[in-house]
Amino acid sequence: KYNKICFMTFDEPIFLKALNKEVLKTPPIWYMRQAGRYMPEYREVRKKFKNFLEMCKHPEVCCELALQPLHSFNLDAAILFSDILTIPDAFGLDVQFIENKGPVFRNPISEPKDIHMLDPFDPENLDYVYKAVTNIKNAIPKHVPLIGFCGSPWTLAAYSIEGKSSKEFNKTFSFLKTNESDVHSLLLKYTDACFLYLRKQVQYGADVIQIFDSWANLLSENDLKKFSFDYITSLISSLKLDPVTKNIPIILFARDPNCNTQTLIETSADCISLYWSMNNFDINFSFNKVSIQGNLDPKILLESDEIIKRETYKILERFKEYPGYIFNLGHGITPDIDPDKVKYLTNIVREY
Ligand code: CP3
Repeated sequence: KYNKICFMTFDEPIFLKALNKEVLKTPPIWYMRQAGRYMPEYREVRKKFKNFLEMCKHPEVCCELALQPLHSFNLDAAILFSDILTIPDAFGLDVQFIENKGPVFRNPISEPKDIHMLDPFDPENLDYVYKAVTNIKNAIPKHVPLIGFCGSPWTLAAYSIEGKSSKEFNKTFSFLKTNESDVHSLLLKYTDACFLYLRKQVQYGADVIQIFDSWANLLSENDLKKFSFDYITSLISSLKLDPVTKNIPIILFARDPNCNTQTLIETSADCISLYWSMNNFDINFSFNKVSIQGNLDPKILLESDEIIKRETYKILERFKEYPGYIFNLGHGITPDIDPDKVKYLTNIVREY
């Protein structure tokens, strides 16, 4: 009897089972950007702060915000409430979030000397993030793992040079053309910073790590390897060698990358988060190599229940025998999505 109770109490969460490449009856479910402006209870809390990063500096608020989607949708994983731009901010680039404009850097990288004069990264400067990790970890149920995260070195570098969000990142590419070796120095600094930052997140309670390469889509296949995936591979290798992080599963999300799944797998990530348009790949190839996460187009959540069900079932059908499948969207939830649709989606995945 005692053994049985122990077994029930310590049974591994389904999210970790999927990351361990097990075939499950029902896939674990979580959503990229599951906390955010699409939720009225988020907007209520957000109103109290003028500046988004200022809000991220309150660990008790981050904890409340990370819990909101778990309460509403009973998800199988929590994600740290913070942002990928905490690292450039900690390097002194002074990141602001302007209403309807997104992030704006007060001190962007404008010339090579801005890169070489950056102070070495001190992970203690992001103490507020680790406090949020611990608060969230202590507040969530035992069967719900906590995902820590960072942006990829390339994604952080592109924002830091551009100084803001952009469609084409023209400033970044002209800087890259004339200062390629300096950009590599910046990528190296960000790779080291990401390693120290993720290691701290794990020490303070993160069970899983996700790397967001949100601007992978800007690079051609060759450049993707040179400016992004080589650094991600090196980051993953450092994490796999470190005693603190070596057993932590790593998920890689790359937005609409100009490569096949094989290239993503070659980074040594444990799980590949498929962008919503990545449907033409051979899942047999990935069998037993990596777990797969994804990949409903978030815009489908703006459609009728019938369409949501049809498109979701297509995905579930394809992955039903896949060893290590996690249901998610193919990119983050956007502010225009109705939370009731997220509830509906979660229910139909569990009923399938
Ligand atoms: O549940 C969660 O995922 C919340 C934690 C989280 C946020 N940002 C909170 C946030 C995570 C994991 C991120 C990651 C992030 N941040 C990415 C990678 C994911 C992706 O979509 O590709 C990127 C590119 C950023 C940078 C960023 N942060 C931008 C471009 C913006 C403004 C536009 C936008 O998409 O919202 C942010 C702000 C931000 N980060 C908000 C939230 C909830 C909204 C800020 C507000 O309320 O004003």
